[in-house]
Amino acid sequence: MITKEVAAALNKQINNEFWSAYLYLSMSMYFAHKSYDGIAHWFHVQYKEELDHAEILMNYLIEQDAKVELAPVGAVDTEWETLKTAFESTLAHEQRVSAQFNHLYAIASEHHDYATMTMLQWFISEQVEEEATARNYIDNLTKIGDNGYGLYMFDKELGSRSYTTPAPLATKG
Ligand code: FEO
Repeated sequence: MITKEVAAALNKQINNEFWSAYLYLSMSMYFAHKSYDGIAHWFHVQYKEELDHAEILMNYLIEQDAKVELAPVGAVDTEWETLKTAFESTLAHEQRVSAQFNHLYAIASEHHDYATMTMLQWFISEQVEEEATARNYIDNLTKIGDNGYGLYMFDKELGSRSYTTPAPLATKG
């Protein structure tokens, strides 16, 4: 059993995760159009992961006998000046998401909701990785500059990303 306040905060986060998915899908389509197929693939995997995050939160609410309330998903950007600005937007976005999860954890804590706090720990750890990855790509792109071969290799590397089902969904079978 979770409180109305915790359920409302989790519902808001479900919308945030769908917004994240929509943002990364927009990036994926933008870079596909620009013929950066590897980068488009990387953002497409990112999009699928965000859908998974929403799914984990929706499953959790249902398990806790709470109502899932889906709200409209807001508009997202549709173009980025450079590859680097796209990854800078990614980092800034993931930092906002980290703050959202910290805030959610604080709300759950105020309500002595230990089950929700435990569930949120996976997301909080995941955010550290999300931020580190974006930061690493920004550093790589700074080094590459406008070197064509460097950009070609960067695109190739990102194209090798594989999608894996996140642990909270994988264990559900
Ligand atoms: Fe759902 Fe990229 O965090």
